[in-house]
Parts: sequence; C-alpha cells; structure tokens
Amino acid sequence: MVYAMEANDIYTRGHSERVTVFSIMLGKLLKLDIEELKLLRIGALLHDLGKIGIYNSLLSKEQSLTLSEYEIVKQHPIIGERIIGPIGLPAPVHDIILQHHEWFDGNGYPYGKKGEDISHLARIVTVADSYDAMTSQRPYRMNLDPYSAGLEIMDNMATQFDPVIGTAFFNNYRSLIEPIENVPATRELLFDLF
Ligand SMILES: [Fe+2]
Repeated sequence: MVYAMEANDIYTRGHSERVTVFSIMLGKLLKLDIEELKLLRIGALLHDLGKIGIYNSLLSKEQSLTLSEYEIVKQHPIIGERIIGPIGLPAPVHDIILQHHEWFDGNGYPYGKKGEDISHLARIVTVADSYDAMTSQRPYRMNLDPYSAGLEIMDNMATQFDPVIGTAFFNNYRSLIEPIENVPATRELLFDLF
C-alpha cells in the first residue's frame, strides 16, 4: 500500500520508510516497550496512506495551494484511517494515521486535538514526519540541512510539537537519523527488529 501511494510522486518516495525509521529510533530513545514500537512501526509506515485518495496534481503542485485545495489535502488523515478500517488493525494505529497532523497547541488538523489528547505515538510520528518533510526537497521549496531542520523543530516546540519529544529529537538527531544512510540498519528497523 505504501509503494502504491508513493509510486506517482518522486518527491515523497521513501518518505514513509524514513519516517518509520526516525519514529522507531525516537520511540526507543523514549523507552517505549516492544508492543508500542510494533504499533509505531505500522502506524508510521501507513501514516500518509490517505494521500492515495488525493489528486496527484495537488500533491506535486509547484505553486502554493489555494485554500480550497489545502482543505482537500487536509482530508488525507481521515481518508487513510477509513482505508484501513476493514483490516482490523489495533486502535493505536488508527490514532497515528488520524492524528499525525494535529498540533500540540490544538492548531493542527483534522480535529484540532490538543496536548495529551493526541496519542503519544502520533506525537512521535509528527516530529519524525516534519523532520523528513523539511530535509526532503519538495516542488515548492528547497530542503533544509539536518541541523536547521532540528532547530526548526525547537522553534515550534509546544506549538506544533510535544516539547518532551521534540527536545529528545533535537538533542539526539544525529544518532536518530544515522540508520537512514545504512541499508541493513534501515531494513532491520523496518522488517526484522521485532
Ligand atoms: Fe500527512
């Protein structure tokens, strides 16, 4: 499903796997137990699944999106959660997909959930997702270097990001992103670890 979603968009290719690697590394740092890490892995891999239901022309548009186009893109957490509905995955996986664009201060989407009301696994994926989005090149902007992206996360602490998770990421980003350059380490985190 992840490959189907990323097949038409060269800009996001590999995004889901990188977000999963960062999320698991961050989850381990935050001392999640093995069951939570398994849920985190599935949820992170599938977090953007709903983009399969969004026109590719919107996802790869070079100009800024209009307000109504942005409203459509903002539906992807709901669409993704609906797609996995019949599979019977555990509720925390649904929460990750549905809540990965919620902000810690309540200014995110789709529901404007706030702070601890957002699943802690989703809050981890939010940091990992934003970091990868900032360090990847997109049609509408250049990518940031890892340090600048880490600083950006620090700057948006407590507004967009959970301060504990964001600080843990910033203080350790070099070791958290290390497996990305290493194919066997990435495979182990994605497929073999648990
Ligand atoms: Fe997303």
